[in-house]
Amino acid sequence: MREEALDFLALCHKELGWDEAKHLARKAAVIDAIESSATWQPSFEELEHGARVAWRNNARCIGRLFWSTLHVRDRRELVEPEAVAEDLLEHVRLASNGGKIKPLVSIYAAEDSQGAPLRIWNHQLFGYAGYGQQANGQYLGDPKNEAFTQVAQKMGWQGEGTHFDLLPWIIQKRGQAAQLFSPHDHDCRRVSLRHPSLEWFSDLGLEWYAVPILSDMNLRLGGLNFRAAPFNGWYMGTEIGSRNLGDEKRYNLLPLIADKMGLSRNRSDALWKDRALVELNEAVLYSFAEEGIYIVDHHRASSEFMRFVKKELSENRLVSGNWSWLVPPMSGSASELFHRGWKTRDYLPDYQLQPKGWR
Ligand code: ARG
Repeated sequence: MREEALDFLALCHKELGWDEAKHLARKAAVIDAIESSATWQPSFEELEHGARVAWRNNARCIGRLFWSTLHVRDRRELVEPEAVAEDLLEHVRLASNGGKIKPLVSIYAAEDSQGAPLRIWNHQLFGYAGYGQQANGQYLGDPKNEAFTQVAQKMGWQGEGTHFDLLPWIIQKRGQAAQLFSPHDHDCRRVSLRHPSLEWFSDLGLEWYAVPILSDMNLRLGGLNFRAAPFNGWYMGTEIGSRNLGDEKRYNLLPLIADKMGLSRNRSDALWKDRALVELNEAVLYSFAEEGIYIVDHHRASSEFMRFVKKELSENRLVSGNWSWLVPPMSGSASELFHRGWKTRDYLPDYQLQPKGWR
């Protein structure tokens, strides 16, 4: 921890324009704190910068041009599940911002010598239940959330049984049983999907939620673990149109859309999947735009990413990147990112994967 904390203070010294005296003073204070209490407390300035740099460092994210605009809510004093659930609603409101989505992170109590004081078990604050395969052979809901849905059901939660049932929140305080919270439906902005020219599209009854708020990653900062630090940006259309709705292991909608489009699915070389993907993705971008909810298309996101890379180089920083995550999942070679190699580098701070809360 000491080493990571000192590296982090050096980063702040360099990037926040600290003078030598301030750097020395913070180093002394932090070493002291770690020696006496095996942990340390970042100042707000440090926490804010660290949370932003963690975004800048995350090798999987194509949206990093905007890292320095991340809004940071310091909620480290909160450990009571009721208070956290209440506070998450405030996060949702601020982040949704009437459609003009704000990148935002809310940081709750840090891990100490006894472990994490608090965990949010949800993968994202919004997500749809996955109920498994039904008698008719059809999958009901989002397979991605099947395990979480079962955990919630064991705790007494019951969904309505549609394809798009919002999941409850499960928040656990250390040493206590996890608690269920059900945000009201109107807390979550949802977008019904329609298509600018295919009139039947709206009859499919598809939707997605406006803001992806990742709530199961660990913010690793200065040797500390903030295991409850939900954050959001805005969506890139392909996340929904290609992956969430298109993947065979998710909503698997390409066959249905191809049928509605009157395409024959006999021959893969007629490219029916590709045609269906384009229409599905256009519907996502169109519907969000119509409702005034910010979303970025993959072409624009790619050029923004390349601007980020240039900007980082001009600050003498090399970007950490993971090719298979960065290249958009549609028309990959139309993105400049596709034609470049990317190296993942072990930069910290970062948002990291961690074991599921219920394991
Ligand atoms: N891919 C995830 C989803 O479709 C969201 C991941 C974060 N995405 C973002 N644009 N910040 O829900």
